[in-house]
Amino acid sequence: MTRSGGFCVFLLSLITIVGAAGAARAMDRGEYLARAGDCVACHSVPGGKAFAGGLKMGTPLGNIYSTNITPDKETGIGNYTLADFDAALRRGVGKDGHHLYPAMPYPSYAKLTDEDVAGLYDFFMKEVPPAHVANRPAEIPWPLNMRWPIALWNVVFMDHAVFQPTSGESAAWNRGAYLVEGLGHCGACHTPRGLAWNEEALDSSDAAFLSGAMLDFWSAPNLRGDPNAGLGRWSKADLVQFLRTGHNVDGAVFGSMIDVINNSSPYLSDADLDAVATYLKSLSATHPNDTGWAYDGATVTMLRSGHPASRGAAIYLGQCVSCHVDTGMGFAPFLPPLAGNPTLLDNDPSSLINIVLNGSNQIVIKGTPDAYRMPEFRINLSDQDIADVVTFIRQSWGNNASAVTADQVASFRKATDPSNDQVIILKMR
Ligand code: HEC
Ligand code: HEC
Ligand code: HEC
Repeated sequence: MTRSGGFCVFLLSLITIVGAAGAARAMDRGEYLARAGDCVACHSVPGGKAFAGGLKMGTPLGNIYSTNITPDKETGIGNYTLADFDAALRRGVGKDGHHLYPAMPYPSYAKLTDEDVAGLYDFFMKEVPPAHVANRPAEIPWPLNMRWPIALWNVVFMDHAVFQPTSGESAAWNRGAYLVEGLGHCGACHTPRGLAWNEEALDSSDAAFLSGAMLDFWSAPNLRGDPNAGLGRWSKADLVQFLRTGHNVDGAVFGSMIDVINNSSPYLSDADLDAVATYLKSLSATHPNDTGWAYDGATVTMLRSGHPASRGAAIYLGQCVSCHVDTGMGFAPFLPPLAGNPTLLDNDPSSLINIVLNGSNQIVIKGTPDAYRMPEFRINLSDQDIADVVTFIRQSWGNNASAVTADQVASFRKATDPSNDQVIILKMR
């Protein structure tokens, strides 16, 4: 599938705000909502005060910075009334009436109930310590920096309605829909964006919703019922385990999803995680006629023969086999399997190229860091090496996805270079 004109965005450096709410302490309602909405992931910088803003985000127009949402009266939202806060959250309008850039996921938060908006307001006003940190101006050149066109954008692309339960669906399904479409803003990363950077769908009534997209050089995969590059082969329990621990028998978390696992989903109650899984498992497949993946042992025989059949296989034996094993099954759940893993079967290889080039960030579950990390191969492997080994893992053990070229790797190497401060907009797919 070709999708042109999409934009790659958020230069979100990955953040871990550890210990803000330890597992042992009971969370009140407002804090729970802030966790479920993952406000901290965008409104903080690594090592900075929680919610003090300043995170640089790339947009198609230029870089912007998230703002200080602590109750500091001069630099934060200390003077916001509940109505002001509501306007920012559900309509994308700041206190002085300026329109917020939709990097703030207000198109999703528009679904929040009055009660939840009030709960969040209470938390930010009463429990978040004020931090005196001035906001940084956006780096968008005139005339693109005029915010009034966003009002027009909102008319075309936004649905202002508060979440309405679907009759005929269970209470758990409706709760899951509210969390996924609304507070969890899962679609902000997992739904493809159109020409105007709008999410192509905002709820389950449209099959584009959560059908996979690339953002910030990571491909957020299809979360629908697709048997290969989707959640079709994951059980509800697999899904809950992934959202609670960042791992399961099918894969491990990495890339920008680490923000969600480190700050948000493990804090959800059992009932809410079950609701999210109930809802996601109800979404129809985008490609229902794909044949489901089946394990093929020929790769193991080849790798054990001492005669690797390709350059990619030889690189795998040299660099990857110690952790991911010749069976491609890794040591689940901590060293993830590559065989049958939906990420490997995705048409879009962005995440695979990115993780092999740059490795992954630390997973920290409710304050406890994980022992294993995917190393980076930026220095040790050339573009051709990475193309060959990624092609190998996409076409072994029954995996059957397209090959990757050295040119694709080269463009990712440049765009994700740690010394590169530019936002480079890559074409999506
Ligand atoms: C995906 C990133 C992201 C997430 C998640 C996010 N925000 Fe924002 N938010 C932003 C950005 C970026 C801005 C600034 C937009 C602008 O300057 O136009 C913003 C602006 C705001 C503002 C306006 C503040 C001001 O200075 O006028 C408020 C209030 C706000 N966010 C609250 C929240 C709350 C509460 C949550 C969690 C429920 C949240 N945000 C989650 C990115 C995010
Ligand atoms: C030192 C152990 C180690 C080595 C060596 C290693 N990996 Fe990984 N890999 C990991 C871990 C651990 C993860 C899970 C993410 C994390 O926790 O950082 C991972 C994740 C991955 C993923 C994402 C899988 C998913 O869950 O969706 C891919 C793809 C991958 N590795 C490919 C490779 C390739 C290709 C090589 C060789 C060039 C390689 N790895 C070498 C440990 C390793
Ligand atoms: C900031 C962007 C972002 C947000 C927000 C986000 N995701 Fe993700 N998600 C990703 C990326 C990138 C991946 C691919 C890396 C991985 O597998 O961990 C991913 C992977 C996943 C996977 C693993 C799928 C697979 O096939 O391996 C699940 C399940 C998932 N996300 C669920 C969710 C849910 C539920 C939400 C909302 C609560 C959510 N995501 C919000 C970026 C995001």
